[in-house]
Amino acid sequence: MTIARPFDFIQDKASPNRNIFPITAEIDQNGRLKVGGCLLSSLAQQYGTPLYVLDESTFRQSCKAYKDALNNYYNGESLVLYASKANSSLAITSLAKSEGIGIDVVSEGELITALKVGMPTEKIFFHGNNKSYRELLFAYNNEVNIVLDNQHDIDLLGKIIQPGNKPAKLMLRFTPGIECHTHEYIRTGHLDSKFGFDLDRLEDTLIQLKQYSWANLTGLHAHIGSQIFELAPHIDLAEVLADALKKALGIGHPISDLNVGGGLGIKYISSDDPPSINNWVEAVSNSLEDSCKRRSLNLPRLLCEPGRSIVAPAGLTLYRIGSRKEIPGIRTYISVDGGMSDNPRPITYESAYTACLVDKPLSEPQETITIAGKHCESGDVLLKDYQLPSFSSGDILSICGTGAYNASMSSNYNRIPKPATVLVGSGKSELIQKRELPEDLLRYDMLPDRFIAEG
Ligand code: LLP
Repeated sequence: MTIARPFDFIQDKASPNRNIFPITAEIDQNGRLKVGGCLLSSLAQQYGTPLYVLDESTFRQSCKAYKDALNNYYNGESLVLYASKANSSLAITSLAKSEGIGIDVVSEGELITALKVGMPTEKIFFHGNNKSYRELLFAYNNEVNIVLDNQHDIDLLGKIIQPGNKPAKLMLRFTPGIECHTHEYIRTGHLDSKFGFDLDRLEDTLIQLKQYSWANLTGLHAHIGSQIFELAPHIDLAEVLADALKKALGIGHPISDLNVGGGLGIKYISSDDPPSINNWVEAVSNSLEDSCKRRSLNLPRLLCEPGRSIVAPAGLTLYRIGSRKEIPGIRTYISVDGGMSDNPRPITYESAYTACLVDKPLSEPQETITIAGKHCESGDVLLKDYQLPSFSSGDILSICGTGAYNASMSSNYNRIPKPATVLVGSGKSELIQKRELPEDLLRYDMLPDRFIAEG
């Protein structure tokens, strides 16, 4: 039997990005943590650790929250695109498809994942600041939307599309000159970014594209950053996009779509306080409608492409606690059976997370522990000086909010195989990504004959 009371960290079921835990998290009668109706310690037992767990309801609720808010607040058409760089797999892309949303892909790998599950091609948007000839040819042949990022894209497409062939459906990405930090933002004329056309080059580029019969430019795009808690930069972005829209229409491009990118932040730790999906969409929608009205423009279709805020809160990672090292007067380390190869965010960005012991998530903290990974790197620390209840080697620890930019940024450092992913919901668990085995890591190794001959 499960105690009905929602888990303490669930504050806003409607907007999963505002909770540390997936929205189905609950405590059973023995005080153990369940997600999607599955006991986390049983999942660890069944599938092994480290294990990525993804809660289907949380993922779906995030998609719904974006769709519903757009329907409520935006008077024009809209489309949500899942930014699959956050976490791409056949099952996750299928979930996005079944929610009726589209997808942003940035490589042939992400693109074939979307095509394989039958994502409608008109809902696929292909990004990238250095797309290859092969990638562009593949995207063009599959009739997906291509987001022009630079002159190189234009030059390559000009070679790929023969005169008389069908035009490519294009969107143009530019750098809006809005730079975000977590708690402040600045606007600059030229932003130091490798992505998109410089704002100053926008007009020339639009004029240039007008000369090409193969270029069917129907959208403009800008993205300002990720893990953003402020609404103001996105409100400003709508203004900048509306200006660009007016310019592009004036030059004769049939622009129907404006894409405001992604970026809404999530709650990793209790002091994080991101806006809800509803508030974010409301702010963006109102700003875009006002901006268009003031310029006497018809409302474009509004596209947004959230990644983290859809998939991060749905995910958590289970580890088994192993060794312990006490350095008197300095620090106590415990090591878990994963680390920087399955979650490179702490070592890369000093990202903070919340952890708990899955079989006693509500117990009072007893000691300050540094939770380290198992990799040969001193910086391989998942959580520094963290308060944990008493525990033993072999206990299962969960780190929350790992659904985005963990699996997709994972590596095989130290030849450590990548974890499995299970999807949970309604008390059932399904493997959606198999655990790698050490021998899988030898798949692409080649041993020249002469080494074999030498014995
Ligand atoms: N659209 C574009 C063009 C993007 O570049 C990104 C993220 C998104 C959408 C999705 O943004 P989101 O909603 O997830 O914030 N590895 C970093 C995050 C890199 C984000 C890159 N671009 C991290 O782990 O924090």
